[in-house]
Amino acid sequence: MTERNPFRIMTVEHYPILQVASALSAMRVSHDIDPETLKKAVKFIRKFADRYHHEKEEKVVFDKVRGKRIDISPIEAMEREHEMTRSRVREAIESLEKGDIGNAIVSLREWANFIPDHIDKENHSLFPGLDNVFTGEEKNELISDFMRVDERLGTIDEMKRLADEIFVEILSKTGNAIVEARAVPKEDRDDFVFRLADLMPENATLTVMYDEKSEELEKRLEGFEIEEMKRKGVYAFRIKKGEDQQKT
Ligand SMILES: [Fe+2]
Ligand SMILES: [Fe+2]
Repeated sequence: MTERNPFRIMTVEHYPILQVASALSAMRVSHDIDPETLKKAVKFIRKFADRYHHEKEEKVVFDKVRGKRIDISPIEAMEREHEMTRSRVREAIESLEKGDIGNAIVSLREWANFIPDHIDKENHSLFPGLDNVFTGEEKNELISDFMRVDERLGTIDEMKRLADEIFVEILSKTGNAIVEARAVPKEDRDDFVFRLADLMPENATLTVMYDEKSEELEKRLEGFEIEEMKRKGVYAFRIKKGEDQQKT
């Protein structure tokens, strides 16, 4: 899929969402996270993960799929999952309004634990399937509709900037992120993990779920400490950025 492919655009929009989920999924109530950071995370999810991205899925792509004579149960399943994510975010907002930081953290962590699997299904199953169902001309129309959403709701660069801010703020408190890299298609997976390793604060760690050992990625991570982890059926490793990481 090229950059001008609508499903490629949707796949790339998943990366900042996964990045924020990586940070939120390692939060504990005891981490003393600033409520303003949690509000920023809620803002990101509502403005970008939900409106900006889901509007393209639901109001552009899925609506057009409904006009075709194909089985729509996969998109109905995705819409139900969107509703589930919305209720977690509503709970987080209610808790923040009551000043209940602990419950806000629990709701956001539930959102974060759920979203990689949803994204994985879209990236690896739904989108490649839909890519075969739309003609080239229809795909260009989807892109034009996406551009109209962008005009109203924001840009991918704004989305990435806010994701970076949230990621760094949360990791400076938790010191860890849990990265479900398997949800990222193989061709982008190394770049995705490397970018987060590069961005994380000193002394933080990334716990990365990967399919298999990537020598290419390990080469790029020279200077970081890498520790392989035993996880049932999953190749996982921990990346640490030490204070002396710059000396090499
Ligand atoms: Fe979705
Ligand atoms: Fe999506």
